[in-house]
Formats: sequence, C-alpha cells, structure tokens
Amino acid sequence: MKFKSRFFAAPMVRVSDTAFRIMCYKYGAGLVFTEMTYAAALARGIDKVNIDRRQEKSVGIQLAGTDLKELESAVKFIEDKVDVFDYNLGCPVDKAQKQKVGAILLEEPRLVRKILNKIVSSTNKPVFAKIRSGYSDKNINYLKIGKIAQDVGCAAVTLHPRTAATKRGGGANWEHIKKLKSKLDIPVIGNGDVNSPEDALQLMSTTDCDYVMLGRAAAKNPAIFKQCNDFIKTGKYKESNQIKLANEYIELTTKYNIKFSTIKSHVTYFLKPHAGIINKTKDLNTLKKTLKSL
Ligand SMILES: Cc1cc2nc3c(=O)[nH]c(=O)nc-3n(C[C@H](O)[C@H](O)[C@H](O)COP(=O)(O)O)c2cc1C
Repeated sequence: MKFKSRFFAAPMVRVSDTAFRIMCYKYGAGLVFTEMTYAAALARGIDKVNIDRRQEKSVGIQLAGTDLKELESAVKFIEDKVDVFDYNLGCPVDKAQKQKVGAILLEEPRLVRKILNKIVSSTNKPVFAKIRSGYSDKNINYLKIGKIAQDVGCAAVTLHPRTAATKRGGGANWEHIKKLKSKLDIPVIGNGDVNSPEDALQLMSTTDCDYVMLGRAAAKNPAIFKQCNDFIKTGKYKESNQIKLANEYIELTTKYNIKFSTIKSHVTYFLKPHAGIINKTKDLNTLKKTLKSL
C-alpha cells in the first residue's frame, strides 16, 4: 500500500460525498473514504456513493452490515471502483445499534472475526477495520479487536479512541493509539480530535501511528491536508481561504447531483461564523450571491 500522504479523510455520513472527497484528495489526502455504506444495498446493485475514479484516485469504501453473503456480494459489486475496503466497528448511533451495526459489534469478537475474514477472503484489495476503544468503559477491548483484524489479514486498523457510550464527547485517548501501535505489526491509523496540522504531527510523534485520519477538521477545511503536508515538510503552512473553498465545493457539486440541503450544510461547515445567513438561503443562486456579499 502506498499513499501520497500520511493524512486520510475520515468516513462521515452526510459529509463524505463525491465533491467533498474530491476536494480532500486534491488538497493532498493520501486516502479518502466514503460514508458508511450498507452492504445490503450494494449487494442489490444500489450504488449511492458515486465514486469518480478520474478525480478521486485513492478511495476507500466503508462497509456496514453483518450478513456474510451480502458482504461478499457488496465487495464484488464495488471492488473495481475502490482501492481499499474499510469495515465500520465504530458507529455509536442508536439506529445503528438497533440494526446491530457499528460499535455494538465490538461486544462480539467472534462475529467480528467472521465478518473481517469474509471481507478479506472476498477481495485482493486491502481491508481496513475502523474501531473504537471499546463499546463502553466496562469493556475496553481495542487490543483484542485490533489483533483479530491483524490475524484475519486486514491491512490496517484505524482507532478512534473513545467508547461508543461517549459518542464524540470527552477527549480522544491517544494513549490507546500508542498502545495499539506497539502491539500490532500492521499499520495503525490514529484518529480523534486532530483539529490542526500541529495536532496531526503531535499525534504521530506521541503515538508513532503510521497515518492520521481527520474528520471534523477536514469537514470544516478540506485544505487541511495541504496544510498538514506543508507543515510536516517545512514546519509552516498557510491559512486557507474559506470562501474560496465554499465556492470550489459548490462548483463541484453541479457535476455530482448533490442535494441543496447537503451543499448548504457543507458551506456552513466551511463558514461557521456566517451560518445564520447561509442557513436562510433557499436555493443555489441565493447561496452564491450570499457568498459574494461576505
Ligand atoms: C458528521 C459525522 C459523520 C460520521 N460518520 C461516520 C461514518 O460514516 N463512519 C465512521 O466510521 N465514522 C463516522 N464518523 C466518525 C469519524 O469518522 C471520526 O472517527 C470522528 O469524527 C473522530 O475524528 P475527528 O475528531 O477528526 O472528527 C462521523 C463523524 C461525523 C462528525
């Protein structure tokens, strides 16, 4: 596995659409991920992730689901369009838990082994697992799950070091990333609370992780990947122009049939201080005019 940089764009529901992924890739992400995608839909030939291979040249799809046959069919269906498969063992939302997908599976290591084994044996592409520290404080088992992933042939493990119970609250415990890295032979991708290039370097130097995954910071500023790459090379980076990023995102969306509500939500991420006025816009033209007035 070779990536053009050590900084990856996280899978994010309602954020990681085609236009966003293309921007992250263009600004220097080594790998971009689709949002969590149900194997059941892919297995039926429903492809909502809309990967543009000409523009996103290093892309992973994140899968969810526990039906082994569906997972195999999903992998076969989408394999040609992706470079990496990722399996979601971190989603903490109630709806996912009810459907037995995401972080709740951390409580079932034997099932995790079967699932990861099935995905690995269905493809020649690298398979990653994205995990949390554990489902709850009562069962912090990231070392066990990480080892399972390695044993069945996963190519890397991403750790978001919180429990599912804390969702995105509390601080990410980077000590867990350090510990996992010291126990595994496969690459470890550190994730959680990386809000700046300084944080990214700090995470790499304090944990020795191989790659850093950025979520919310990338949603606010896809150019953070260029900033991280510049910072690691030169110790400096430039502030990004948030209005330019918003316009660039809007321009890209016209090619990928992205809903206005999604566009607005992205532009709000880019331009948080202007969220009030952006949220009042009702169509693309008004949104564009509003951006010009800022
Ligand atoms: C809006 C949003 C949607 C998310 N959707 C997913 C998802 O589909 N799959 C996943 O594994 N994690 C998902 N996450 C978690 C992120 O991938 C990441 O692990 C988490 O935000 C911590 O990283 P950060 O501190 O850099 O944001 C989501 C996070 C956010 C903010």
